[in-house]
Amino acid sequence: MHLGIDFGTTRTVVAAVDRGNYPVVNFQAKNGDFQPWFPTLIAKKEERCFYGFDVQEAGLGDDVNFLRSPKRMLTDVGKNSLIFLEEQSISALDLLTEFFKNLYQALYHKSSLKLSEGETLETFVSVPANYNSHQRFITIEAFQRAGFNVTGLLNEPTAAGIEYTYRYGLKKDSRTKDYLVIYDLGSGMFDASVIAIKNHQHEVVANEVISYFGGDDFDQILLSMALEKSGEDRQLSDLESYLMLKESRLLKESLHPNTRKIRFDLRKLNKGLEHVEITVKEFYEHCIPLVEMTMKAMEMTIEDLPEGKSWKDVSSIYVVGGSSPLPIIPRYLRTHYRNMIKKSPYPFASTAIGLAIGCDPEQAFKFKEIKSNYFGVWREAESGRKIIFDPVFSKGITVPDKTMKPLISLRRYHPVHNIAHFRYLEGSSLGVDGQPSGDMTPWDEIFFPVDPGLRSLDNLRGIEIKRSAEAGEHEIEERYIYDSKGVIEVTLADLKDGYERTYQLRRSA
Ligand SMILES: Nc1ncnc2c1ncn2[C@@H]1O[C@H](COP(=O)(O)OP(=O)(O)OP(=O)(O)O)[C@@H](O)[C@H]1O
Ligand SMILES: [Mg+2]
Repeated sequence: MHLGIDFGTTRTVVAAVDRGNYPVVNFQAKNGDFQPWFPTLIAKKEERCFYGFDVQEAGLGDDVNFLRSPKRMLTDVGKNSLIFLEEQSISALDLLTEFFKNLYQALYHKSSLKLSEGETLETFVSVPANYNSHQRFITIEAFQRAGFNVTGLLNEPTAAGIEYTYRYGLKKDSRTKDYLVIYDLGSGMFDASVIAIKNHQHEVVANEVISYFGGDDFDQILLSMALEKSGEDRQLSDLESYLMLKESRLLKESLHPNTRKIRFDLRKLNKGLEHVEITVKEFYEHCIPLVEMTMKAMEMTIEDLPEGKSWKDVSSIYVVGGSSPLPIIPRYLRTHYRNMIKKSPYPFASTAIGLAIGCDPEQAFKFKEIKSNYFGVWREAESGRKIIFDPVFSKGITVPDKTMKPLISLRRYHPVHNIAHFRYLEGSSLGVDGQPSGDMTPWDEIFFPVDPGLRSLDNLRGIEIKRSAEAGEHEIEERYIYDSKGVIEVTLADLKDGYERTYQLRRSA
């Protein structure tokens, strides 16, 4: 089964590949109802963590501690950075892995997918375009540890761009680049990107993210307005605020272009309180400064376009993200950008559908051939606190033809662990710091025994990788050969005792 998974701040949306269709997967909530997303939620109660649907307010009671969204936690984390959940701590990678394991189980047992036991889930996943290589690494690694077979990682706007092209078709003159703006207002962040599209290749060329603002802020605005009107000014408990924000979100989501008044019922909070009435006009007036911020971010992406490019080169603004149907958004955008606006028919699922299309073996949305991508390996740095990318073959190199010698790349170093663990990847672009910033395809993973005592074992996966003083006495050489058939081979050799192994590297599939 091929899937596209959009790991959102509050909603994780999954789209499947089904004979040329990309249906959004429905999940069964605790009350039996189906909904087209898996909640990106973690809560803690008495030393135990609850994930996704298990975070049900009724079962958890007053002493529950709702944690920040795991997607938010990924901001600024190191590989082993610990997240403190009261007295306990857990690494970001472990927490995310647990969350994805829950998603994996829900896909098998509580979703509209018909999966047979043990069926491989070949998956494309997405990350915000401004994620650094470390956050990209953690995302892929956590999905893999949870059981998914990640075959591609795209920037969220690239996936939405693919969904756009699938729906509206490519520009007639395919020799010139088409520029498309993606306006993505989700729950926890806003993302404006310009995508360059040529021959089914989609690439983010400019991007602005507002990571502290998303559609959930509208819930907070509405709730604050209601509390102010009612005169209730005490601090709400975690559970109260969760329940009242939910109430506010439902009211916000039910607004349509003709709604005039919002009736906010505060009795769940305090039986002594009545409902209050807020006019939609008043509510939107409070929202406008935020909407203006998104437009400013979008204008900034246009300023970042390559020399000589401007709005005149942009064909459309594609409006996606679950919050984009809030009537003030299209109304405000239309007054400024008129007929450039195109709304996605599935705003909350555009990214997941784009990922599924990208993942579909029958589709033309293929990655660029290796020669126009870079290829390299993740390495640990700063004693394992950080993961950095080491490019083995850089972007733009051409495949050597038959008359040429193969390309060779060498590395030598003293290892620090009993097992050398290599995770290879191919990607479309590197940022100014030389680290991956674009779409990526994971390649093979290799475990090489530095400790001679492990060399008789057929499979090293699952054996504990630990630091060892003896490892430093060895010297490892990595020799990469890239031949005229486009094949990459690596020979890993221990120069101390001459032990070596050769592997042909492949994209993971
Ligand atoms: N009809 C609607 N009108 C207004 N807002 C809506 C509507 N339907 C859903 N939303 C809002 O959309 C948001 C969820 O959007 P989405 O699923 O795109 O976010 P996400 O992917 O979880 O977050 P992010 O992309 O920021 O990481 C929530 O804030 C929800 O209240
Ligand atoms: Mg999103």
